[in-house]
Amino acid sequence: MNGNVIVGQSGGPTAVINSSLAGVFRTAMDRGAKKVYGMRFGIQGLLDEMYVDLSDYIKNELDIEILKRTPSAFLGTCRYKLPAIHENQDIYEKIFEILNKLNIECFIYIGGNDSMDTIKKLSDYAILTGQTQKFVGVPKTIDNDLALTDHTPGYGSAAKYIATSIKEVIRDGNGFSYKKQLVTVIEIMGRNAGWLTGSAALAKGEDCEGVDLIYLPEVPFETEEFLKEVRALLAQKSTVFIAISEGIRMADGTYVSEAGGGSDYVDAFGHKQLTGSATYLASLINHEIGCKTRAVEFSSLQRSASHLASRVDINEAFMVGGAAVKAADEGDSGKMVVIDRVSDDPYQSATGVYDVHKIANGEKLVPRNWINEKGNYVTEDFIDYVRPLIQGDYPCVMVNGLPRHLYLK
Ligand code: F6P
Repeated sequence: MNGNVIVGQSGGPTAVINSSLAGVFRTAMDRGAKKVYGMRFGIQGLLDEMYVDLSDYIKNELDIEILKRTPSAFLGTCRYKLPAIHENQDIYEKIFEILNKLNIECFIYIGGNDSMDTIKKLSDYAILTGQTQKFVGVPKTIDNDLALTDHTPGYGSAAKYIATSIKEVIRDGNGFSYKKQLVTVIEIMGRNAGWLTGSAALAKGEDCEGVDLIYLPEVPFETEEFLKEVRALLAQKSTVFIAISEGIRMADGTYVSEAGGGSDYVDAFGHKQLTGSATYLASLINHEIGCKTRAVEFSSLQRSASHLASRVDINEAFMVGGAAVKAADEGDSGKMVVIDRVSDDPYQSATGVYDVHKIANGEKLVPRNWINEKGNYVTEDFIDYVRPLIQGDYPCVMVNGLPRHLYLK
């Protein structure tokens, strides 16, 4: 490599997004990059010429190891939609002026489906105007909804946190089960795809009964049917645990979250913030059935719990970061790195690259045949798919009793 590399992080963070950043940095240095720049707050910050030289922050092996274990976007993130090329050429001219000034050869963007739109547009513009930079995307999202990759880094660790926390919530609730009824509703992220909510099924095992019901956004939510299921369960047992996606919605498309008041905030991609579905359903049960209820919303905890990250996930996140630099250095552009599952037992994976035009802005949903007929639990195929992704741990570097993070002020 003769020139420099620039890397950015975009969209909702994960517990392992910085492991991908570490993978980008390591491979870029190994391949002879003179400098590895980091965009502050993704493409939005770059437009304001906000970037850092990563060598100022990652100075040795220990820094790499701490970065791999640091949750959230070390460089800062954004939800920013580039306009179509014909709508605003000035923005593209500005970005390429900055890239040329910094002698950038490889532009690496770590993100989900909206972020891959940025790779798509920049690589298209480069071809259109005869620029030589290569643009490659690194997959990332707890939602696991990117097409053409077996799964996305960030998903396995979030699934591990959810299954672990649900086991703990069930332990807590069951302690009160003598002569008292309790229904706990647990809300999990994932706007349109129920991959993460489905991972609640992993809580069930030899030492835990698991959740009773799981509702994904892929199946329309029916309130009366839901209350009927809860009543039937309460006739047999005193504690009931229900996992719901933040994105569950009725047949007419109304989010349950909206029925509960929700939030009016809408991001640059037109996504309404989803929150409060568990609180709404818990109070509905309380009102209609009369028993005690509790609502648990994991919110940002589920995507920042690096203390519970899966080793498989951290290692794969590092691997895809490195693979993106290698692909760009070898001439690929307008591509995203994907993870291919090579085998389940033992679990093995490898990387490939795919045309980002087939991935950007799309959403891979849970197949209907991985959800039971009633639409209130996932199947064994689903559980077999996710279980390998939560395996192994990656102990934190502890200082004064707390995990140490790498921090960019
Ligand atoms: O992009 C992943 C994600 O965590 C989704 O699961 C969730 O709906 C969304 O981000 C929340 O985004 P924000 O933190 O911007 O509200």
